[in-house]
Amino acid sequence: MMIPEQELAKRICELGRTISEDYAGKSIYMIVILKGSVFFAAELAKRIDLPVFMEFMKVTSYENGTVSSGKVTITLDLEESLEGKDVLIVEDIIDTGHTLSCLLQELGKRNPASLRLCTLLDKPERRVTPVNADYTGFTIPDKFVVGYGLDYAQKYRNLPYIGVVEMKEEQ
Ligand code: IMP
Ligand code: MG
Repeated sequence: MMIPEQELAKRICELGRTISEDYAGKSIYMIVILKGSVFFAAELAKRIDLPVFMEFMKVTSYENGTVSSGKVTITLDLEESLEGKDVLIVEDIIDTGHTLSCLLQELGKRNPASLRLCTLLDKPERRVTPVNADYTGFTIPDKFVVGYGLDYAQKYRNLPYIGVVEMKEEQ
């Protein structure tokens, strides 16, 4: 096991406190990236002491496995304009950076008042496209992780902790 439940809860509390301070007096327009960020976003929103709007987007960059395709497609878009909104993207993990660099570029074009990124996990060793999160839960080594929303071929999302997938060579 890599990150136990209690550690996740503690860190998310801290992130919520920092975000509440940084956005004092404002409302946060949270964009939750489906599906992996749902667990994290729900906990984070509860720890933010400000009005939080929650909207959802779905972006596809992975085929059912662990290898990034590099191609990013928005498969579920927002229904409203971002004009003048304080947008906080909530992501489960930044790996190669393909997904977030594409998304930041696209959402930046929609004239939000501000655009920031909060990720539960960051795997900087794997970065191909430069992306920096404004808020990071944990920086982790180059391991494929599951749980707390993260999946391996749609499995293990509901584990309450973050664990590492052991990749066994097929004989
Ligand atoms: P990126 O575009 O390579 O940065 O990938 C981001 C997406 O890849 C995340 O939103 C996850 O869905 C998926 N991903 C990357 N690394 C992992 C991992 O270790 N476990 C599960 N999903 C991952
Ligand atoms: Mg995924």
